[in-house]
Amino acid sequence: MKFSLSAVVSVMAVSSCAAFTPIQKTHTTTLRPTTTRGSSSSTTSLNYSVGIVGATGAVGKEIRQCLETRGVLDVDTLRIFGSERSAGSTVETKYGDISVELFSEEACRECDVVFLAVDGDFALKHARNICEGDDGAVVIDNSSAFRYEDDVPLVVPEINGKETKKSKLIANPNCTTAIGLMALWPLIQKFGVVKVLMSTYQASSGAGQPGMDELTSGTKAYLEGKEVVNKIFAHPLPFNVIPQIDKFQENGYTKEEMKVTWECRKICNLPEDTPISCTAVRIPTIRAHSETIVLETEKDVDVAVARQVLEEAKGVKVVDDPESLSYPMPLTATGQYDVEVGRIRKSIAFGDKGLEFFVCGDQLLRGAALNAVLVAEEMQENGALN
Ligand SMILES: NC(=O)c1ccc[n+]([C@@H]2O[C@H](COP(=O)([O-])OP(=O)(O)OC[C@H]3O[C@@H](n4cnc5c(N)ncnc54)[C@H](OP(=O)(O)O)[C@@H]3O)[C@@H](O)[C@H]2O)c1
Repeated sequence: MKFSLSAVVSVMAVSSCAAFTPIQKTHTTTLRPTTTRGSSSSTTSLNYSVGIVGATGAVGKEIRQCLETRGVLDVDTLRIFGSERSAGSTVETKYGDISVELFSEEACRECDVVFLAVDGDFALKHARNICEGDDGAVVIDNSSAFRYEDDVPLVVPEINGKETKKSKLIANPNCTTAIGLMALWPLIQKFGVVKVLMSTYQASSGAGQPGMDELTSGTKAYLEGKEVVNKIFAHPLPFNVIPQIDKFQENGYTKEEMKVTWECRKICNLPEDTPISCTAVRIPTIRAHSETIVLETEKDVDVAVARQVLEEAKGVKVVDDPESLSYPMPLTATGQYDVEVGRIRKSIAFGDKGLEFFVCGDQLLRGAALNAVLVAEEMQENGALN
């Protein structure tokens, strides 16, 4: 563990106050390493100084809670960094009451691992400076700033966790991509992929805390007959759906839609021309993204086998009993580590070589915080944090 001058709270000293305990069905607890870094001793367990930048935001809050509730990453000290807006305030954590420090690269470099949960411009400015050199910290970035850089692994641990050994800067994928891939990856491995067609129904929290606030206040205003103000979304979101997330690109797709194409190819190591297309739509829900996915496969698909593949897949919960009206929904997927998959059926469009299904996943967890914490756990286990 690196030495830090800042006031930090030892994990050993305090009691638990986890906000919720998501169901953790399929992830097994990783074994903790037992070697002290920088020494030949093999008796003491490793412990890390962990920093979260943006811990007052939607993703940052969930990162802290994932660290607390999972307890797999061996956190010795937790440091929380923010802007002038939140610096000096106190955050109640399992590790004790922690004072939010004003962000600085120097302070972050004192940590072993830093989770960045701020925007892409911020990451571009600071991420490489924080991890530079042997004494820099490992940085796990939630923004899209580095996802398409050749030297930065883009990681979903269940798919390409080994990539984390290659760099001290790791990019966390786009939330829609990460959720869809939990179901797609095991099916692609079993049946191959010819093309993927995706349509999404994305929650307001995809735009962070301000997105949730705008939906909540806008809904109240609408019901009171007042004007609905929109600053975060392109149009008022209450009682509406908006077929635009992020900026339009020259090809007519939005950036959010292209992220799905680019990131699925990179994470799954698919050929650069693999046809993957997406229409991304914002809907007036608070949390958890939903996706309709149509997969054209190389091999014939047996639906029963596909269901079994999904039942055995890590991070997936099959919720698929039409008779009892059981299928994935944002209300049931919210707060869950696992992605719900249902409405599994042979595709009329692609016949024996096609499968259609519906996926719901908590994008703040699987699509951001949980994935980031799983990356750090993977690096703890494979020695990349040492
Ligand atoms: N929301 C999602 O579903 C989702 C999913 C995947 C990835 N992401 C990505 O995750 C990142 C965070 O998103 P979010 O939704 O959590 O946003 P958010 O709710 O708006 O939170 C932003 C956080 O950034 C902090 N911040 C802003 N300027 C800062 C500065 N100069 N120094 C230090 N901290 C600063 C804020 O802290 P203060 O309160 O101190 O200002 C706040 O905690 C973004 O890159 C986003 O694209 C989001």
